[in-house]
Amino acid sequence: MPSWMLQGAPYKGLFILVLVFVALEYIFNTVTETRNAIFNATRSYQLIEEKLTYGPAAPNHTKKANLSMDLSNLHYIVTVPPALIGVNLSTTYVTTVKRESDFTAENGTSTDKPPCADITQTLYGRVPIRKYPIPSLESLEKKFDWLMPGGHWSPPKCTVDKRVALVVPFRDRGGHLLLFLQHMHPFLRKQQLDYTIFVVEQEGNGPFNRAMLMNVGYSEALKSGKFDCFIFHDVDLLPEDDRNLYSCPEQPRHMSVAVDMFQYKLPYPAIFGGVSAISTAHFKLLNGFSNCFWGWGGEDDDMSNRIRYHRLYISRYPITIARYTMLSHRKDPPNPSRYDVLKKGQKLFDKDGLNDLEYVLVMKKEKLLYTWILARLMNHTSDHHHR
Ligand code: BGC
Repeated sequence: MPSWMLQGAPYKGLFILVLVFVALEYIFNTVTETRNAIFNATRSYQLIEEKLTYGPAAPNHTKKANLSMDLSNLHYIVTVPPALIGVNLSTTYVTTVKRESDFTAENGTSTDKPPCADITQTLYGRVPIRKYPIPSLESLEKKFDWLMPGGHWSPPKCTVDKRVALVVPFRDRGGHLLLFLQHMHPFLRKQQLDYTIFVVEQEGNGPFNRAMLMNVGYSEALKSGKFDCFIFHDVDLLPEDDRNLYSCPEQPRHMSVAVDMFQYKLPYPAIFGGVSAISTAHFKLLNGFSNCFWGWGGEDDDMSNRIRYHRLYISRYPITIARYTMLSHRKDPPNPSRYDVLKKGQKLFDKDGLNDLEYVLVMKKEKLLYTWILARLMNHTSDHHHR
């Protein structure tokens, strides 16, 4: 042992201190590395399939499915309680996962710009949510001067092969809209998307028709340009995790799986409300949403039935990623006849939807933060189809 280590207590103390410091740093690095490895593993992969097949005989069950993610082998595990699938054993489905790059490489476009790199490396996970104060329109326009007119942005130095339209049904929620735009533009830009936000406002004070506004948004967006993917988005929901990719996978995706207002639990497996993503091709196949739901509720359940009817299924991100904060507001009274309309709707999928959509376009304007569409909706009921 060197002689200086044997001389006097001060050196011994110093030596022990250094040893403790080295040990602490080692422990800290190991913990950080492990944490990063898990984190990178989860964010580098996009889960593309979920076999939350809730059985043909049980469309209206309300029990919860238990979703979890096995980080060690990157399998997404969905455990469905026996009652949901009508068998005696609890069933675990292990679904396939693919790297994001496995399927973004398809259909490359021919421009001078190179394709955008795998964005999953730049995502962090949780993002801050700001509910207060409500920003002014002017302050947002100043802050987001990188936007192009109509609430559009795309990566300037690389190309993305899919174009995304966000359709936001809207009326009387000015404060929420500003908070939504404040949150969404940086969120979508970070995901390196080629996106445009369409705010579709219903004219007048009659009962709100969320589904019909989404059909209007779809039709008007396609008149403005080519879009491959539609995300239908309530204005009061803010995504909490940037790994929740705003893209359209192979199957329609229900995105708002875990909402704070519902204790971050899926209310029931067939739910398709809040935020949902459907490719343009699938939306056409499904004939869009029904036009017959006036007032709160039911229209998303009808879309869920359409998806099943066309032998598609609802995919979802894990509950740890698909998290949302809901901005508080007075809830509209539920439409008491929604179950009746839902029942009648089963026979009307090919008659009620995009192919009988009627509205007057009162205004369409490219503002900096969004494309504003004001529409007068024509009255549609399921009885009208039965006549
Ligand atoms: C309504 C849906 C709604 C869900 C969750 C159901 O009763 O029909 O439209 O998304 O509740 O609030």
